[in-house]
Amino acid sequence: MKTKITELFGIEHPIIQGGMHFVGFAELASAVSNAGGLGMITGLTQRSPADLANEIARCRDMTDKPFGVNLTFLPTVNAPDYPGYVKAIIEGGVKVVETAGRNPVEVMPYLKDAGIKVIHKCTSVRHSLKAQAIGCDAVSVDGFECGGHPGEDDIPNMILLPRAADELEIPFVASGGMADGRSLAAALAMGAEGINMGTRFIATKEAPVHENVKQAILRATELDTRLIMRPLRNTERVLYNDAVGKILEKEKELGDKIQFSDILEEVAGVYPRIMLEGEMDAGAWSCGLVASLIHDIPTCEELVHRTVKEAEDIIRQRLMGFL
Ligand SMILES: Cc1cc2nc3c(=O)[nH]c(=O)nc-3n(C[C@H](O)[C@H](O)[C@H](O)COP(=O)(O)O)c2cc1C
Repeated sequence: MKTKITELFGIEHPIIQGGMHFVGFAELASAVSNAGGLGMITGLTQRSPADLANEIARCRDMTDKPFGVNLTFLPTVNAPDYPGYVKAIIEGGVKVVETAGRNPVEVMPYLKDAGIKVIHKCTSVRHSLKAQAIGCDAVSVDGFECGGHPGEDDIPNMILLPRAADELEIPFVASGGMADGRSLAAALAMGAEGINMGTRFIATKEAPVHENVKQAILRATELDTRLIMRPLRNTERVLYNDAVGKILEKEKELGDKIQFSDILEEVAGVYPRIMLEGEMDAGAWSCGLVASLIHDIPTCEELVHRTVKEAEDIIRQRLMGFL
């Protein structure tokens, strides 16, 4: 399958693995890239720019295909050393950066001077247009279904993707709720040039997370995610667990008066305990509605190849059959 996204990033299949905190290590990113997709190391999971430089070097040892680094700008207690991370990306020879959280205008000149392609993750058409205006090469349009931060507009991809197609000139991929060849064929039909998957890539053999996390995804249905931190305007879609139950109770009790400090215990620094140690009730962790469509733990190669094959079959047989 040849699309503007495969051309832009020099990849074989129009499938991207979105940056994921404490999941997007070199093992996963290289496996996705080796399968012909675009793997993504999560920049801020590395504690310092030096650690990121090391992770990039590890990934390069595991693949000679293109891979990217996710740089997330989110409200954090202490701002990370963004210039240092950007330097590590440039010096590491990385050619693709996925930005997210807020408009990457401040880092754009550095990335563009280094010949890096930038794909910005947005949850709205207006943010996508802004990304286009500041020189991003592509956008990843994240619908309300997505695991992680869906923004505050709550527009699902059935509306968001065609809206993006109507307004954007730069290519975009569909993100949020993407699981298989049906998702890929539907995304292409709605004007996207490929897909970005998060939750689906956690349940793969190479994802270096605890088995408990993969099993929790396999067990989850479409009724098992919740939105937290809405009163803080930092909405996150997470899998329901005891910690999420506590957060929701506090949100109900405190209403608009809730502060980030009220839920610190359930959200701050919990990812290593969940993803690496498998302590499933340690805190809130991002998970998409798409968990309900995930029933196995394939290798990245199996996942990417069957997704493309299934999409091709849908287009050739099912869709053409209607004509
Ligand atoms: C466990 C987890 C952690 C994530 N961490 C990040 C992150 O650090 N930065 C980011 O930009 N997106 C993050 N995301 C969002 C994904 O990159 C992707 O946009 C999203 O998962 C797409 O929705 P899906 O899960 O339905 O495929 C995360 C998602 C998950 C499931």
